[in-house]
Amino acid sequence: MIKPTLIQNGFEIYKQALNVEAQKQLVDTIGRLIVRSPFYQPTMPRTGKPLNVKMTNMGQYGWVSDINGYRYQPTHPKTMQAWPDIPQQILDIWQCFTGNSLTEFNRSNPEQKLSHWPQPQCCLVNHYSANNKMGMHVDMDEQDHITPVLSISLGDDAMFRMGGKQRGGKTNGIKLLSGDIVIFGNEARLNYHGVSKIYSGTSGLLNKPGRLNLTLRRVT
Ligand code: SIN
Ligand code: MN
Repeated sequence: MIKPTLIQNGFEIYKQALNVEAQKQLVDTIGRLIVRSPFYQPTMPRTGKPLNVKMTNMGQYGWVSDINGYRYQPTHPKTMQAWPDIPQQILDIWQCFTGNSLTEFNRSNPEQKLSHWPQPQCCLVNHYSANNKMGMHVDMDEQDHITPVLSISLGDDAMFRMGGKQRGGKTNGIKLLSGDIVIFGNEARLNYHGVSKIYSGTSGLLNKPGRLNLTLRRVT
């Protein structure tokens, strides 16, 4: 069983979970993905102000945000095409880190101890440039708030902030590096989190400065 490097505010952090070869394969996969399903600039509900990051998705549902609100939908909002499937390499990472993580073994219902979480239905891909951030928020647009969320960091280092159940509460920060994985499960599934800083140029993985974050979620 793979053990997390540390658990902070209920978030399980697996430092250097993916080696450089696996990280490069993921970057190649995303390079192919964006030919068909390009990054676009999402906007805020109501105000229509641009979000900090650019986004695209893989899977049955993609998370989108625009003037009409946050939601999941089966098609890319610009191309109107279905999102590409989540590739096997990413499903294998899901299986490895959610299947083995404490998240599963800690569950109070003993009958669920050996079960496997259902497959993710969304892989949101966020692209951060040098000055981008992500405000503190809870992942709660899914119908499923039980299956853990898995987040993969690629490229430049980022300061990931972890809070609790209250907006504006005390937070702890950890620098996420390329290849790190975070699981938000159990009590952390609905905890506040965000990204307060990108350390631009700290990784040579992408062909220019920037950070990619892949977030895998069960939606329904
Ligand atoms: C998110 O919470 O949607 C992204 C977190 C990250 O970029 O590490
Ligand atoms: Mn989130």
